[in-house]
Amino acid sequence: MLKEIGDITFKDKKQMYNFMKMRLTALIGEESDWLANLSNAAALMWQILEDVNWTGFYLMKDEKLVLAPFQGKPACVNLTLGKGVCGTAASTKEVQLVKDVHDFPGHVACDSASNSEIVLPIIVDGKVVGVLDIDSPILNRFDEEDVEGLSKFVDVLVKYVDFDSALNR
Ligand code: SME
Repeated sequence: MLKEIGDITFKDKKQMYNFMKMRLTALIGEESDWLANLSNAAALMWQILEDVNWTGFYLMKDEKLVLAPFQGKPACVNLTLGKGVCGTAASTKEVQLVKDVHDFPGHVACDSASNSEIVLPIIVDGKVVGVLDIDSPILNRFDEEDVEGLSKFVDVLVKYVDFDSALNR
């Protein structure tokens, strides 16, 4: 079931993701600050996506992933590249669509309620600057439509957010 946002009812996921992308662009406005914009992006995913228990970001720092703006329960602060779902997305530069996290070797269980997960690498000028991570308590919660919608969401961030200052934070 898609959530209703105020008096808006979405016809399908595509429409919901278009709305989410439009809201993100409007919220960013003229501001390029990474902390402000990633905070709003995490909150927007939390507000709009159904059946999720964590939405947020990890950013690269000193060859590891460090917790960045998010919504949900407190999470692991550091993740190792090449390990777990986020570390794999960052090291392979590929989206990780995990139907059942318990079957994913090295999955890092920050919240025991999580059963499925999607992680998209955030790539600026060919370099991974971080990842977008969403967890769900529902098995097999994410599909190719989520990959497509969230890829466009990440594109907006890459276009408008100053990730250089995030890397040098
Ligand atoms: N499950 C992730 C860790 C981050 S939490 O889900 C917020 C992983 O395996 O990398």
